[in-house]
Amino acid sequence: MGLRYRKQLTTAISEDSSEKLDELAEEEGKPKGRVLDDAIKYLYNSSKKEDAKMEHNCKVITIATNKGGAGKTTSAAAIADILSRREKRVLLIDGDPQGNLSKRFGYPPNMLPENYLGALILDRMKKTDAAPHEISYYINQCPGFPHIDIIVSDLRLDGDYSVMNAENVRGTIVFRKIINEVRTMDQYDYVIIDTRPSLANEVGAIFVASDYIMIPVEPTEDAIFGADATIQFAGACRDMNPKLSVLGIFMTKVYDRNKSFREAAPVIRESWEEDVFKTLIPRSQDADNAGNEGKPVTAMFSNKKLSKRYEQLVDEAIERIEKGVTLDA
Ligand SMILES: Nc1ncnc2c1ncn2[C@@H]1O[C@H](COP(=O)(O)OP(=O)(O)OP(=O)(O)O)[C@@H](O)[C@H]1O
Ligand SMILES: [Mg+2]
Repeated sequence: MGLRYRKQLTTAISEDSSEKLDELAEEEGKPKGRVLDDAIKYLYNSSKKEDAKMEHNCKVITIATNKGGAGKTTSAAAIADILSRREKRVLLIDGDPQGNLSKRFGYPPNMLPENYLGALILDRMKKTDAAPHEISYYINQCPGFPHIDIIVSDLRLDGDYSVMNAENVRGTIVFRKIINEVRTMDQYDYVIIDTRPSLANEVGAIFVASDYIMIPVEPTEDAIFGADATIQFAGACRDMNPKLSVLGIFMTKVYDRNKSFREAAPVIRESWEEDVFKTLIPRSQDADNAGNEGKPVTAMFSNKKLSKRYEQLVDEAIERIEKGVTLDA
């Protein structure tokens, strides 16, 4: 990429000017899509330089699948709670406008705080008239969870994602920018991101900012397709984030005497072999009960089977991270 071209790209991006990108495309005799790709690559490379400056070791794990109700939020809450009991410092990001994760950590959807995730996204995309806030402004403490902080969400995030997705360049890179700021704070061992049941652009932007993806799958035929689509999608995002790894697929809501489990579990194991976590998360009423109380299941029923299994899942995840055992997406 030539210096002049880079300078013009920078101007187009910093002025947020679609016209400038059009002009540049014409000048360079390139399709606009190619110029957009160049702009994204340019921004990505700049943020990679920032990454390299950060020596500390904060791991960003995203829980994702486009299959609704697979146990993403229950698992994100449980994993964060367990890590925090092990004295790890955790930042949660509720990437789902349903706000279910926020509710589990003391922020029900009717609170409508000013400093929710959508406001942070719009702030970093320079879409507000207000002066920018420091990243710490957007981070809330979780009452009762001294080692966990959260960036909360609610339904407003849906509209903000539309604004974000309408801008290819900044939209693609905005989560990466946010995560880089979090890394620079040097206050967290883990960032755990919960996502909405979708593989839309905003989930792509979250993948571009993540180190690892964990995919919950309920052992039924439909859910298997969900896991497969998520892995393919992660593969597409690796162009922008080559170090992105799928840490593994884990089975949730398992009732092992049920016919659908007996049929689907072998297919899951054959399809993804060692990329399937050994730990099975059992089906349990405790999950619903904790959800209804707005608590992580591991905090409400810490000595029961479901929580013990989540402990094992976290052990396995840490082991996989340490060994570097990952499914290249
Ligand atoms: N192990 C489990 N056993 C029984 N029920 C469970 C289990 N895990 C989650 N559930 C229940 O399944 C429902 C969906 O769970 P959860 O909200 O965690 O899924 P999700 O993937 O985050 O959903 P969404 O796609 O809507 O974000 C909830 O009612 C939850 O209580
Ligand atoms: Mg959820």
